[in-house]
Amino acid sequence: MIVARTIAEVRSFRREVGAASVGFVPTMGYFHEGHLELMRRSRAENERTVVSLYVNPLQFAPHEDLAAYPRDFERDRSLAEGVGVDLLFAPDDDEMYPPALRPKEAAGERLQATVVRVEGLNSVLEGRSRPTHFDGVATVVLKLFHIVSPDRAYFGQKDYQQALLVRRMVADLDLPVDVRVVPTVREPDGLAMSSRNVYLTPEERAQATVLHRALRSAVAAIAAGERDAAAVARLLRETIASEPLARLDYAEVVDAETLSPLPRLAGRVLLAVAARFGRARLIDNEVVAVPGGPGA
Ligand code: PAJ
Repeated sequence: MIVARTIAEVRSFRREVGAASVGFVPTMGYFHEGHLELMRRSRAENERTVVSLYVNPLQFAPHEDLAAYPRDFERDRSLAEGVGVDLLFAPDDDEMYPPALRPKEAAGERLQATVVRVEGLNSVLEGRSRPTHFDGVATVVLKLFHIVSPDRAYFGQKDYQQALLVRRMVADLDLPVDVRVVPTVREPDGLAMSSRNVYLTPEERAQATVLHRALRSAVAAIAAGERDAAAVARLLRETIASEPLARLDYAEVVDAETLSPLPRLAGRVLLAVAARFGRARLIDNEVVAVPGGPGA
């Protein structure tokens, strides 16, 4: 496996690969089975697989966990190599956001002048709590797509809104990338795997399974005929509130394509939750195909 630190190295790899298909998995590292599953999917569907490992400061707000974000490059390198990744791109901040390009007129921490914003999808759910987050994600993902030039790119359903937003950016900007979404990989007790799970104390870790339990109760209620979105959202909130260490951020039931509110459940519906457990802010979701839409 090649470890590339510069954009130029990735570009020359891409040139040498020529017509062979390239799958790409963007990550922030501290790999778990969720990341590895994306890499395996890419391996199965492409002749070459490129993984990026970059903790992107542009998508963290000043009060968020950028400095604390877990890192272990040697472990990540050997895990990626173990699943057969061809190239691991691990740039530093100066490579991704060259100091010479940082706007000087801005008093703040702006890293570059150009920002990609996917309107609408960036301001709901996660975007309400993290208003600049998705601009940072869209911008770095577009940069990475231009650096790697992949045929296919792999994203996890765990970050459903992120995957939807990237799909939208790809469509709006006519990018020649096929975006594929991989189901959420979970711990045996249902907790969605996340690099941030390492922040949890043992008590918080035990209670954090409530996110998945709440989603499962909601899915069961819908399967039993519930069609009132407010009632499903209430069930999500009440279940999460039953764990004393959970501090709910949101629990919402929305249209899975537009992320807009849905009074009556129909079609593809997204159940999305976010809560804090101590230092960790965790998210999870389920998508349900609700039978019996209009006219049924
Ligand atoms: P990161 O949180 O490292 O996640 C990298 C990819 O792994 C994302 O597509 C995410 O959805 C996926 N993933 C995380 N946990 C997963 C799980 N339990 N099951 C399946 N897939 C999972 O998401 C980011 O990094 C960044 O925002 C990034 C896209 C790299 C841009 O900086």
